[in-house]
Amino acid sequence: MVEPARISLITAPTPLHRLPRVSEDLGIDLWIKRDDLTGFALGGNKGRKLEFLLADAQQKGAEVVVTCGSAQSNFIRQLAVGCAMLGIKCAVVAMQLPYEGEPPTPEIMAKALKSKGGNLTIDRIVGAEIEVVPNGTWDELFERQQELVQRYKDDGFNVYSIPVGGSTTLGAYAFYRASLELWRQAEPFDFVVSASSSGSTQTGLQYGYHKTPTRYIGVACDPEPELIHEFVTLAGSLDELLEEQKGLTAKDFRFDLRFVGDGYGIPSEQGNRAIEYLARREGIFLDPIYSGKAFAGLLQMAKNGEIDGRVCFWHTGGTPTLFV
Ligand SMILES: Cc1ncc(COP(=O)(O)O)c(C=O)c1O
Repeated sequence: MVEPARISLITAPTPLHRLPRVSEDLGIDLWIKRDDLTGFALGGNKGRKLEFLLADAQQKGAEVVVTCGSAQSNFIRQLAVGCAMLGIKCAVVAMQLPYEGEPPTPEIMAKALKSKGGNLTIDRIVGAEIEVVPNGTWDELFERQQELVQRYKDDGFNVYSIPVGGSTTLGAYAFYRASLELWRQAEPFDFVVSASSSGSTQTGLQYGYHKTPTRYIGVACDPEPELIHEFVTLAGSLDELLEEQKGLTAKDFRFDLRFVGDGYGIPSEQGNRAIEYLARREGIFLDPIYSGKAFAGLLQMAKNGEIDGRVCFWHTGGTPTLFV
């Protein structure tokens, strides 16, 4: 296999350390993998994917990189910073609150993260072009992204389009590599738990832990069970890239939908309590949309006896949304 091109953005390996107080509270041996400390553009899991995605964009001579996401997207923030560093224009369509099915009620909308601060502050500082569109479905957002791509193409630009969250084969490959990074850092864990949404984090990690003693659980931050089919497709593309035949199926993925709360982008009470608990016990900060909900899931699973032994919480970052 030919290793895909990579540019260096993050500081890796990211730290791995034990959480002594929470371990004692829960009666498990709990560790944390600090991808909140990737060191690039205020940290988070997307730096890993962008090392490959932006190398690919650069190799293909991209003049404009286009993506979409929620207005408080961590991916958009890190993409915008990476593009600025490489002198590539970053153009984005963002929705305050993407949803599936019925539009959320006004009460639920009020709980969504609406402020112009957080990640949007960083996007502005580095000069990304952000077109904020009204709330709607993910499919509507993807259509708007296609329209933006077409507009730039019509104007004669070489456009590199990245799907939401950077969940492509290269994004999943970055997280497959991350699973190997953890193997090299410590004795195998019984469980690894992280937040999961657009899928390349979960797919890459699951690919790495397939048929090993480690069971990986992705805690869903988007209430869409059918996302699993996208994980399977991504895993198939990893088979092709890596010239492997792991053949992952839907049954190989544990995508836990119990901790989403009212929906994508809406903080939950359980998640907010988990944020306070980890900050007060270990001095580590989670975010209300992804890592807080995932850690709330981990706490509940440990209390239920669903996970035990050596457990690693993979902190995927997102801390700027604490400030919206
Ligand atoms: C902080 C954080 N954690 C986890 C995720 C989920 O990663 P993925 O989109 O690869 O499933 C995201 C995605 O936006 C994120 O920003």
